[in-house]
Amino acid sequence: MEAVFSLKSVREFSPQAVPEPLVRDILKEVMRMPVTGPQRPWQFVVINDRSLLARIPDFLSSAHLVREAPLAVVVCYDSRLGEDKEVWFRDCTTAAETILVVARARNLGGICLSIHPLLERVAGMQRLLGLPDSIIPVSLVPLGYPREQEHPAGRFDGRRVHYNHW
Ligand SMILES: Cc1cc2nc3c(=O)[nH]c(=O)nc-3n(C[C@H](O)[C@H](O)[C@H](O)COP(=O)(O)O)c2cc1C
Repeated sequence: MEAVFSLKSVREFSPQAVPEPLVRDILKEVMRMPVTGPQRPWQFVVINDRSLLARIPDFLSSAHLVREAPLAVVVCYDSRLGEDKEVWFRDCTTAAETILVVARARNLGGICLSIHPLLERVAGMQRLLGLPDSIIPVSLVPLGYPREQEHPAGRFDGRRVHYNHW
């Protein structure tokens, strides 16, 4: 629960490398989570090549922070595995957000950045990673050890909570 309570986007990373088995453990947890249907229409591309990370801000301006991140995970929709657009978009964005929670539980941090449905971002990522047309990149999640641990702001708004009737 601590990982959920302390979750905050991380935009600055220490240079410390993230061991590959840790990345696999995170994705193992993410692939276990409950989703809409049995297809689990995702694929994950882990980018840890510095020269590739450095090219991402060319087409995704808010991703300038990946220049410092040790790695980034691209959550992709595999159109061969599911056809319902609403379902696949939801499942892939949920997976991206779950990466943040699971990473936080392992003292890592990151931020979720949208790719789909922004056409320039989708095309840029498809080119960069050589993705086939059937694979749509949905979210980019840069990950690493936070330079500083910030504390989340309280955002509870009781006016948005309704019981039984509006
Ligand atoms: C599904 C999703 C997509 C997001 N896409 C972007 C994005 O394209 N660009 C960006 O700068 N931040 C993006 N964010 C990050 C949010 O803006 C960030 O989580 C929010 O500002 C809260 O920040 P905080 O955790 O520092 O409080 C996205 C977050 C989520 C959950």
